[in-house]
Amino acid sequence: MKGANINLNIRSLKPSATLAINERIAELKKQNKEVYSFGLGQSPFHVPKEVVNELIKHAAEKDYLPVQGLLKLRESVAEFHNRHNHLKFSAENILIGPGSKELIFLTQLVYYGEIIFPAPSWVSYHPQAKIIGNNVHFIPTNYKGRWLLSAEDLEAFCSAENDPDKPRILILNYPSNPVGSTYSIRELEELVVVLKKYNIIVISDEIYGLLHHKGEHHSIATLYPKKTIISSGISKWCGAGGWRLGTFAFPKNLDWLLNGMKVAASETFTSVSAPIQYAAVKAFEGSPDIDLYLVHSQRILSVIGNWCYQLLKERQIRIIKPEGGFYIFPSFRNYSAKLKRKGIVTCKELAETILMETGVACLPGEDFGLDPKLLVLRMAYVNFNGENAINQSMKMNLDPLPDSFVKDQSPLIYQGMLKLINWIDRL
Ligand SMILES: Cc1ncc(COP(=O)(O)O)c(C=O)c1O
Repeated sequence: MKGANINLNIRSLKPSATLAINERIAELKKQNKEVYSFGLGQSPFHVPKEVVNELIKHAAEKDYLPVQGLLKLRESVAEFHNRHNHLKFSAENILIGPGSKELIFLTQLVYYGEIIFPAPSWVSYHPQAKIIGNNVHFIPTNYKGRWLLSAEDLEAFCSAENDPDKPRILILNYPSNPVGSTYSIRELEELVVVLKKYNIIVISDEIYGLLHHKGEHHSIATLYPKKTIISSGISKWCGAGGWRLGTFAFPKNLDWLLNGMKVAASETFTSVSAPIQYAAVKAFEGSPDIDLYLVHSQRILSVIGNWCYQLLKERQIRIIKPEGGFYIFPSFRNYSAKLKRKGIVTCKELAETILMETGVACLPGEDFGLDPKLLVLRMAYVNFNGENAINQSMKMNLDPLPDSFVKDQSPLIYQGMLKLINWIDRL
């Protein structure tokens, strides 16, 4: 980015990696090139009909709403978490924002202390910190540990700093973007021992929680309720990324942080669009149809994710079996010698060559804070018509869905994966 009058914190940043890949794909399509997009992680599913109908019903709502969010919506979000996580939130603990991304940004802005997150992590945590000028710390994870933060590594990080009382926030996302893995209850319990010891606040980014493929998401807030903020929203499980509505659920004793964020919100976005807030009440209240929509979303993502995983695994690609959300995170390290002969040593070069030679578009692992030499890519398996897929899944009694579902309902994913496999076989 050029320009002497750009803030120094921003000058070194590029536009968000996920949005950049979309522009790249559009460019190639314009040149009539065949592209198989595994880039942007947008939900493939439609917004449930009942929720859309609520939006239509409230289209004329035009007044500014309270900064913290519409009371009825906050009540339904609190109830949603109490239902799903067996917690005891009430409306006053909830903050509504224009996407959880903005709420995470506001936390980083308002909080005075150290921000830590595992590497790899979602692409935006780190640039947000850079914009604000925050000091952040990555704790590296590894393939053997399913790219998840271990209690030992958290303990090693905290004890090395020689200041047990240092104020810290850990941002923990699961099911994970970019990996697709998630924490078991035991792993969360082990983390909580360390979190308690060092009195660390957690932002638990559970935006993919309801897209756990078996519907078995478990929040760390149940084990560490006094210091966990649950970050969620309607972008992923409700297919409404473009509606821009995210939620934070605060424990009572973090009111000071909620209040600080409200001040920042009041001077920036004021409140989320009124019709969207009215419509979102329905999403969080839920209904038998929304439950059904979720069950089918989960099993569709499960069959597609596992099919992609199996195909790569059979080629000795290092990959973690997806458990939730819609990402896989294959590492091509076992092919590093062959790739080197093609002049590929970083994941960016890998992503670029695959795009040019096969039309398969992925994101390089370094955008998520990984060493480029690990040759990792992030692939989002969302390039299919989710509404058709749900309708089809509803007609099928088979559970799990058969592999043939992938070819029938997500042909571009099917073809893209075959192109990629063929490319690997020819290395
Ligand atoms: C891990 C993670 N957290 C947060 C977000 C932000 O979601 P939103 O701002 O749409 O609520 C995303 C979106 O891609 C994500 O993948």
